[in-house]
Amino acid sequence: MPGGIYGCMSLISKRITDNKDFLTELDREIGDSDHGINMARGFAAVMEKLSPEDTDIGAALKKAGMTLLSKVGGASGPLYGTAYMEAGKITAGKTELTPSDMKAVLDAAIAGIQKRGKAVRGEKTMLDAIIPAAETFSAKISEGADMISALEAACESAREGVEYTKTIIATKGRASYLGERSIGHQDPGATSAMITLEAIRDYYRGA
Ligand SMILES: Nc1ncnc2c1ncn2[C@@H]1O[C@H](COP(=O)(O)OP(=O)(O)O)[C@@H](O)[C@H]1O
Ligand SMILES: [Mg+2]
Repeated sequence: MPGGIYGCMSLISKRITDNKDFLTELDREIGDSDHGINMARGFAAVMEKLSPEDTDIGAALKKAGMTLLSKVGGASGPLYGTAYMEAGKITAGKTELTPSDMKAVLDAAIAGIQKRGKAVRGEKTMLDAIIPAAETFSAKISEGADMISALEAACESAREGVEYTKTIIATKGRASYLGERSIGHQDPGATSAMITLEAIRDYYRGA
């Protein structure tokens, strides 16, 4: 893939930054209006730390994770930070990922988020986008799908997961303070997770 991990992280950063106001607006409805600001600030710091010479995927993901952990306030910094760090641990020394490596990346990211945040599926969090996406990705590659078509299917599941967050009550994070009033609103973190997965998909598509 052209651009390697630096190219992929650049695209994630660009999409997060392009969606800064949208993510912040979603967080205004059920949180404290900072999700887009947190994420854009975090990725600006990540891109300052990375350069095109960072070709080791594991090392780059670890650097990104540490930066998100240290630079982003709010729940999402430590959660995404841990996700990237855990994904970095299992990709050390790699400069390319096979579909089964990508499955391992998604599983490690989910495990990191759950270790840190103690949430499960159905609590109206980023996990409601990432877990179904990872399940679909895994099912597709076991049927023999290639990276791009598995990522395309995974992104559809992430989008369905984001839609699903509109129908459920938040029981973790700030949105849980709203109880039933959180129904009808899509979760900001699930939305940023979907945007991240779509950026990864588009990176492999050659965007
Ligand atoms: N325990 C948790 N596990 C997984 N995701 C969580 C958890 N708590 C919050 N989140 C996610 O974090 C998002 C909010 O992030 P952000 O606004 O940046 O932080 P804060 O809620 O501290 O202001 C939520 O939309 C949700 O997806
Ligand atoms: Mg917030």
